[in-house]
Amino acid sequence: MKFLGLDIGTGGSRAIVIDEGGKVIASATVEHQPFASPHIGWAEQSPDDWWRASSEAIRAVLMSDGVSPDEIAAISFSGQMHGSVLLDENDKVLRPALLWCDQRTDQECHEINEKIGETRLIELVSNPAVTGFTLPKLLWVRKHEPDIWQQVRSVMLPKDYVRLKLTGVKACDMADASGTLMLNVRERKWSRELLEQLDLDAALLPHLFESTEIVAQVSRSGAEATGLIEGTPVGAGAGDNAAGAIGMGIVSPGTVSATIGTSGVVFVVTEHPTIDLKGRIHSLCHAIPGRWHMTGVTLAAGQSLKWFKENLAAGKSYDDLTELAGAIEPGSEGAIWLPYLMGERAPYLDPNARAAFVGLTASHTLGHMARAVLEGVAFSLRDSLEVFREIGAPIGTIRLGGGGARSKLWRQIQADVYGRSVETIEVDEGAAFGAAILAGVAVGAWPSVDDACRQVIRVAERTDPDPYASEFMERNYQAYKLLYAALKPAMNMITGADDK
Ligand code: XUL
Repeated sequence: MKFLGLDIGTGGSRAIVIDEGGKVIASATVEHQPFASPHIGWAEQSPDDWWRASSEAIRAVLMSDGVSPDEIAAISFSGQMHGSVLLDENDKVLRPALLWCDQRTDQECHEINEKIGETRLIELVSNPAVTGFTLPKLLWVRKHEPDIWQQVRSVMLPKDYVRLKLTGVKACDMADASGTLMLNVRERKWSRELLEQLDLDAALLPHLFESTEIVAQVSRSGAEATGLIEGTPVGAGAGDNAAGAIGMGIVSPGTVSATIGTSGVVFVVTEHPTIDLKGRIHSLCHAIPGRWHMTGVTLAAGQSLKWFKENLAAGKSYDDLTELAGAIEPGSEGAIWLPYLMGERAPYLDPNARAAFVGLTASHTLGHMARAVLEGVAFSLRDSLEVFREIGAPIGTIRLGGGGARSKLWRQIQADVYGRSVETIEVDEGAAFGAAILAGVAVGAWPSVDDACRQVIRVAERTDPDPYASEFMERNYQAYKLLYAALKPAMNMITGADDK
């Protein structure tokens, strides 16, 4: 038996096929159109472009050596979270989806808080009003584009739209649904009370499933578009944070991961729904029935390095920058990067936060700035780890994923900044791998997600913190924390947040 995992990311869609031993037999990534940002802070993509890229990626893996469509026992999904796909009565996309990193809904978040009350909101959906979550996006469209809103009959998350195209079935899993701000995360069901108070029709939302359930089969048109066999079982899957955690074996309570992709995510599994009353981090369902997780998200993690490379280091490759950064002492001789290129989520929930280099002198070089970017991203993830600690989640060894795990230098920086040993795993396929595991569990190839992870995930390498570097990092981290507060009034002035 083989299982296909499909991850609808922001940059592209990735399909992988694994066998029962967890070996990756084939993989293919097809890029998406980059997200459009027609106004500062906006981020939009075309759902039909995700479907184009996904079907091409599936077709590509099915054409690889050692894979034939009739061997695929099941498919499951992972996807960028919090997006808003709005469909009309014929399931046609009405406007580009607003993405997880879209920050236009500050006003709508204030309105939700006023109407529901900040504390009551956290009681109902375990999370505060966050600009990137789905609910405020719906309110934005309702207010600013009433003609479109009038035609909306279904609201879907990104991967769920791709599944609709593949199967004709509308479904959503608990983990992804908990990032909409409309799910009662404790009870794992849509919050009727919240929807009623905001005058939203629950019939707009898809049926809910656990991530390990089969929810549909590949339809005839889905089969024609992808090369899959009609009738192949399709699982519920999960939002990319929870699927990525499964792909890294972060399944038992207390296990922790730190993943640096476009965004950066720290993730801890909890046995019970645990909330941060100050709303600094997210409390969501895990992709395992009866388990939850907390996450802290920094919006521009890998994106900080990408932006730096493209705008300030033209002509240099990532390897060039890592080499330059590697020659600089820990602490970047006082240069500090605040990675708030897209505003910030955890722990500030501040769409008006702005990025900055601080502490530069005439002696600083490109290498110092590159190292400061790597350190600054780790500081922003450490901010969330500090919140986990404060709430009482025990933090042991941290498993690393994404681009931040592939660079030796970034691994060491993360160990030094977190003050914890970090480890990588042998197959770093992240969310697509998690989706493939969920597909296998859904058709009984493994009795549970825990069993599957025990069988297929192996630790590759461990990096311990260097006490000398940790000390320097600690000093910079303390300065980093002061800088957000110190610059906040200036950021508000620059963005006009004061005038609103
Ligand atoms: C999670 C989040 C991001 C996106 C990126 O809360 O916003 O990780 O899911 O794909």
